Amino acid sequence: MIRVLMICLGNICRSPMAEFVLKDMVETRGLAEHFLISSAATSREELGNPVHPGTRRKLTEVGISCAGKTARQVCKADYERYDWLLVMDSSNLRDMKRLFPDDPQKKICRLLDFSKQPRDIADPWYTGNFDVTYDDVVEGCEAFLAHVLHP
Ligand code: 4NP
Repeated sequence: MIRVLMICLGNICRSPMAEFVLKDMVETRGLAEHFLISSAATSREELGNPVHPGTRRKLTEVGISCAGKTARQVCKADYERYDWLLVMDSSNLRDMKRLFPDDPQKKICRLLDFSKQPRDIADPWYTGNFDVTYDDVVEGCEAFLAHVLHP
């Protein structure tokens, strides 16, 4: 079982998008039973709130449902619960390093660190551009899957 927690600031825009895109990819490949995938926030800003309408609209456009997902905050126990804690940007990485200063197993990475061009995923909460974020999320999830399936 490969356990993956996607993480961003609010857990309403980018990390739920990454959660449901990766779930869709493993389902399409017939690998769903081998993965546990979820998402969480570094902040308390949006706790309990549903996925942002922009993310919901983009996922619906590509045939992916995120029904029932509400924001929750990452907690200490998540370090043992998950094999990978994948953040969306450098600011999330700094927040996670404060919570988990050691990261002995090097579980905490940016999603796009697995791609050929390691970089942050822009926050559509500020940019308003959910299409660019979606393309980056797909690139990151594909690169991450290739990394864990064909190490
Ligand atoms: P996310 O976007 O981290 O991609 O979910 C944000 C959502 C909410 C806020 C910031 C970023 N906020 O400040 O409430």
